[in-house]
Amino acid sequence: MKIEQHETSKQKGIKFIMKHGDQNIASAYLYILYNDFHKRPFGIVEYVIVDEAYRSQGLGTKIVKAMIAEAKKQNCYKLLLWSRYSKPKVHLLYKKLGFKDWGKEFRLNFN
Ligand SMILES: CC(C)(COP(=O)(O)OP(=O)(O)OC[C@H]1O[C@@H](n2cnc3c(N)ncnc32)[C@H](O)[C@@H]1OP(=O)(O)O)[C@@H](O)C(=O)NCCC(=O)NCCS
Repeated sequence: MKIEQHETSKQKGIKFIMKHGDQNIASAYLYILYNDFHKRPFGIVEYVIVDEAYRSQGLGTKIVKAMIAEAKKQNCYKLLLWSRYSKPKVHLLYKKLGFKDWGKEFRLNFN
């Protein structure tokens, strides 16, 4: 039986950047994805990174809050992110922002 593949074109990615002068000190990506199962899209947060010299000053919180606000603006019904088991402090940050520990991540690495 043949498998058909239909590319969808509505998906989008938004890069968030915080600057100090010309220097990028924090960044993160928000992906807005659509499928046929929901009328509304959902969001994925990836690569939240704050420059080491600027950590623990609230920038990570600020950039993730901005992404939550944008996901709501884009009419998302949920926002997902993944974090390694080895980063409990990061989990604390996300939990403080309202994210729930919801499931397991399965990953296939390609060379
Ligand atoms: C995770 C990260 C984005 C947090 O940015 P930040 O600007 O330091 O975050 P904030 O100042 O807004 O909040 C700090 C909170 O984050 C949590 N946290 C996560 N990692 C931390 C770290 N290495 N040191 C201290 N707090 C950390 C704590 O809960 C802390 O709360 P507290 O200030 O009440 O103790 C930043 O540590 C980072 O870039 N880490 C490397 C990349 C990474 O792991 N990204 C997440 C991928 S899922």
